[in-house]
Amino acid sequence: MGIPCHVGIIMDGNGRWARRRLLPRLAGHRAGMNRMLALVEHIFSCGVKYVTVFALSTENLSRPQSELDGLFGLFREYFSSQMEALRENGVRLRVIGDRALIPQDIADLIRAGEELTAEGTKANLAIAIGYGGRQDIVSACNRAVRAGREVTEESFAAALSTGGMPALDLLIRTGGEKRISNFLLFEAAYAELVFSGKMFPDYTDGDFDAALKEYASRERRFGKI
Ligand code: FPP
Repeated sequence: MGIPCHVGIIMDGNGRWARRRLLPRLAGHRAGMNRMLALVEHIFSCGVKYVTVFALSTENLSRPQSELDGLFGLFREYFSSQMEALRENGVRLRVIGDRALIPQDIADLIRAGEELTAEGTKANLAIAIGYGGRQDIVSACNRAVRAGREVTEESFAAALSTGGMPALDLLIRTGGEKRISNFLLFEAAYAELVFSGKMFPDYTDGDFDAALKEYASRERRFGKI
């Protein structure tokens, strides 16, 4: 089946990774962020054109303020320091999710990063922050209702925050749970699902290569025989 065009990653297990090492949860998120940086580069080097990572769900926003502040600090660091590298590598950044749910200064950094990388054509990185698949679907529905138009599968897909990106081919979740947890619900309709028991900071490039192999060995029939 070859290389998937669009890979999604649910980066779960940072908190447990830290707890097992008697470290604060934020140390797990930092280790997760560092792992994400290298892993995404590796995934692009395999020929994947679109990667979407789940950094913060709508539901995660009800975590204790101290953890959220730590995560927001990491986002500030990332969006302040990594945008030039993305641009140099031809990677176009898109952040999906409700910007009203995150601090304004981070929303500003995100907008600047998206503008800086807008001409990137080699690869596409989407980061889901304050994102929920159901919420995204409901917003797209409401926009169609307000405009008084019926939707088709294609026009509806285009109205989602992932509009213009191909449907998801491969969805990887680390951390041992086997669920989608409100990530890319519409987009994952025919995605192959690969679950790893490893905590995200321990998920290696080699683990991804094994997931690619597993993907290539599956037969995707899209409901046909
Ligand atoms: C889930 O692990 C992970 C998160 C809620 C945060 C993921 C964020 C990162 C990896 C940092 C990404 C950074 C950027 C800049 C995009 P968990 O906390 O639910 O772990 P647990 O299930 O073990 O408690």
